[in-house]
Amino acid sequence: MLNWTIRSPHKTNVKSSDLNSLVKTYTDTLNSPEIGFFRLPENRELLKSCQDTYEIFKKKKYFVHIGIGGSALGPDMLLKALGDKSGVEFVFLNNIDPDDMKRSLDKVDLKDALVYVVSKSGTTAETVAAMSIVMNELEKCGVKKDQYRDYFVFCTDPEKGDLRKLAAEWNVRTLDIPSNIGGRFSVLTPVGLFPALFAGIDAHDLLIGAQDIRKHLSDPEIGKSFYELGMFIKDLHDQNVRQTIMMPYSSLLKEYSAWFVQLWAESLGKEGKGLTPVPAYGATDQHSQMQLFMEGPQDKVLFLLEVEQFESDFSLKSTVDMGAFKLLSPFKLSQLMKAEFEGTLKALEENKRHVVHLKIPTLNEQFLGQLILFSECLTVLLGKSLGVDPFNQPGVEAGKKYANAWLKSNS
Ligand code: PA5
Repeated sequence: MLNWTIRSPHKTNVKSSDLNSLVKTYTDTLNSPEIGFFRLPENRELLKSCQDTYEIFKKKKYFVHIGIGGSALGPDMLLKALGDKSGVEFVFLNNIDPDDMKRSLDKVDLKDALVYVVSKSGTTAETVAAMSIVMNELEKCGVKKDQYRDYFVFCTDPEKGDLRKLAAEWNVRTLDIPSNIGGRFSVLTPVGLFPALFAGIDAHDLLIGAQDIRKHLSDPEIGKSFYELGMFIKDLHDQNVRQTIMMPYSSLLKEYSAWFVQLWAESLGKEGKGLTPVPAYGATDQHSQMQLFMEGPQDKVLFLLEVEQFESDFSLKSTVDMGAFKLLSPFKLSQLMKAEFEGTLKALEENKRHVVHLKIPTLNEQFLGQLILFSECLTVLLGKSLGVDPFNQPGVEAGKKYANAWLKSNS
């Protein structure tokens, strides 16, 4: 099971009345019908709809994922962490850089591709732009609108939005993002589950993992330590310790950090409050950002995420009888990772840094599912303790409005 330990000189001072009221607003939020992500682990209908659609398209050689923000970061995380089990070639069109668009499309034979357009609102400019480009490219390949059903699957709100309307017009198969789940909380809906199937990931096990951690957090003792973690971060926030470093010791979890960054930043940064997330990964960033984390300003909480057991390993045995070769020779690569993790943890403690040691037994569907739901719950807990709404993003909307105005006035 995923677990966590606070390693910090800071002692959180929480009045039990404050803690009780936080626990109440947090649990009321998770149980409210307007918030859906917390109940996703039991929702097998969404997975079934993905499996049925997968059966129709499973022979496709390319999977082109169009989406941005919460509609792309979750699937990208799943694929990078676990998606090495199928021969399907994935391409993410998740930005509007024309050069990158060209390079990405050059990798794909669209005649052999499934294009998965993901947008909760169905109106996001970047997503619509990528979709228009792909439609133009399909036309060049001789694909007409009445054949779109064989090339596209949409993922959007069950009732609203332009994608929903187009799906009806073009008879394109569509998977639902439940209306009570926002982009950054949607990875365990068809947003992530459908691409996961194409990548050979056991999507059912992801849900089981999420279900496990949910049960685990409802245990009174474990729940208490989870709330203490939230209060610890909130208390430090109030003392201007407002940076959150997310540092898994795993290359395969680099995109988990990117996903976490969006979740944490977009959910918590509002009304002058918030925690600035910084992505990092070990051991690589020990030769980069770690100097700052170790001796820079005391304004950070570091989440160091340890993967206890790697699937593969290598001997470091060497015939070179000197220096680091000799030192490493009796060990395996995973043991060097362990040594670097432990060494950094100890040094951070000596430097009186604020650390949360997260641990998963290994990187598989079950533990990634746990990590996902744990991160989402912690984000909501922090939102509630800071007194901000973790589910909206008014600051993003403002920029979109001006971009649209620019487009209108320049057309
Ligand atoms: O987390 C969010 O809600 C956002 O990041 C959205 O996912 C992002 O803006 C894309 O929106 P949509 O899915 O409506 O295209």
